[in-house]
Amino acid sequence: MKREQWGSKYGFILAAMGSAIGLGNLVRYPSVVYENGAGAFLIPYFVALFTAGIPILFLEYSLGHKYRGAGPWVYQRLSKKWEWLGWWQSIVAFVILSYYMVILGWALSYTYYSFGSQWGEDTESFFFNNYLGVTEGVGVLGGIQWKVLIPVAILWAVLFWVLHRGAKRGIEWASKFMIPILVAMIVLITIRGLTLEGAVKGLEAYFTPDFAALSKPEVWINAYGQVFFTLSVGFCTMITYASYLPKRSDLANSGFIVALSNCSFEFFAAIGIFSALGFLATQQGVEVGEVVAGTLGMSFVVFPQIINQFPGLNSLFGVMFFVSLLFAGFTSAVSLAEPGIAAIREKFGLSRKAAVNWLCGASALMSLLYVFKGGLYFLDIVDYFINNYGIVVSAILMVVLTGWVSKQVDSLQKHINDVSIVRIGGWWPAIIRFITPLSLAAMVLWNIYNEWMMTYGGYPQWSVNVFGWGLLAVVIILGALIQQRRWATEPSPHKEE
Ligand code: PHE
Ligand code: NA
Repeated sequence: MKREQWGSKYGFILAAMGSAIGLGNLVRYPSVVYENGAGAFLIPYFVALFTAGIPILFLEYSLGHKYRGAGPWVYQRLSKKWEWLGWWQSIVAFVILSYYMVILGWALSYTYYSFGSQWGEDTESFFFNNYLGVTEGVGVLGGIQWKVLIPVAILWAVLFWVLHRGAKRGIEWASKFMIPILVAMIVLITIRGLTLEGAVKGLEAYFTPDFAALSKPEVWINAYGQVFFTLSVGFCTMITYASYLPKRSDLANSGFIVALSNCSFEFFAAIGIFSALGFLATQQGVEVGEVVAGTLGMSFVVFPQIINQFPGLNSLFGVMFFVSLLFAGFTSAVSLAEPGIAAIREKFGLSRKAAVNWLCGASALMSLLYVFKGGLYFLDIVDYFINNYGIVVSAILMVVLTGWVSKQVDSLQKHINDVSIVRIGGWWPAIIRFITPLSLAAMVLWNIYNEWMMTYGGYPQWSVNVFGWGLLAVVIILGALIQQRRWATEPSPHKEE
């Protein structure tokens, strides 16, 4: 099987940026910052970035590029017994995809509702009661919500189509047209936000540090969770994307560009978003703290309020905001699907079309769970456990595998330096061997110690056992089962050299 390739170096960088820049930047980051010490959160954020996020980003780039395959293939090349870890990470991406697409479906609906602010005055009741039709508690399914199913189905159809077209004609093409438009729109939104009355109040809320937060373990795990999610590391996405690069491609340079652009996008977009929050608080004569909401509430309850109050061109501002979510999220969704698609192609010798149909078909079916009126509760539990434990724990295993079990980290450093202009120093293998596993392990243990007996979010224990711990267990067992099967093909015939 001939390996697919990106059209050019810039194609790869745009696709990787498309993956990184997503709902994590626009939806997740602002409320995670606010709820975890505001200005003070930047400390754990940067610690997480430099002890884990960026080092692992380079690790994924070098693994995919050197071994030229998706996650499971790469990990079994490091050690025959470790293939399951690649499945674990790819399946986690697949699980996230199923609800990521649902949130994108909401954004599509809200693009439409932006015309004439169809959500009315009470945006909270509109979102939860009219739009989602949320039921009274977890476990009360309440039937399919058609208003959600339709946009979600449309987006799935587009995703199938783009992924059928392949890495270059699909993923790269979508990123090339969506990312520049997205950046332009966010720049406009941020500038407009900053010039609104009360913007300063919002910026104060963004930057005023609450240092007491730093002594809470969950603040630290939230920082690591955010960094992994936002950089798309720990999901085999970057491994897979790097495997489509030509043999001679600068890795270090691309890595820095992608990390820097993602994090500055996140940082600056939040300036726009907080300015708008300051504006809303000023209009309502309240403190910013009273208008801030949780991740989803921020985009789908608070932002519609801002749009209502907006001085002129409300619909345009609304459309720009929700189309930004759509574009940012869509290029990330393709990258949540691709690790699994590439992996099952390699393992079972499937064509791209067949692999896309199987993987996206299964994930689309799982989406249905969140399209039920009571689906929001599941979404919340799955998201929390997958991100805070699934990813962080798999990242520990990943650095232990490369740094200690297979001891490949030095040859990976050499590999990066062979192809890159900027050289990576000895700091990198040292971080991967010592700093990353120790900081991640310390943090996970501290958290488990703290919340083992507490049930997440006050949900009934059964629901957390099923959709939290249970789901994690299924992911791992599934990975181990697939590892028992034979490889249909070797993904990359090593003949080009
Ligand atoms: N990085 C994306 C975001 O910020 C999410 C994502 C995670 C995409 C993992 C691919 C893989 O929204
Ligand atoms: Na991101």
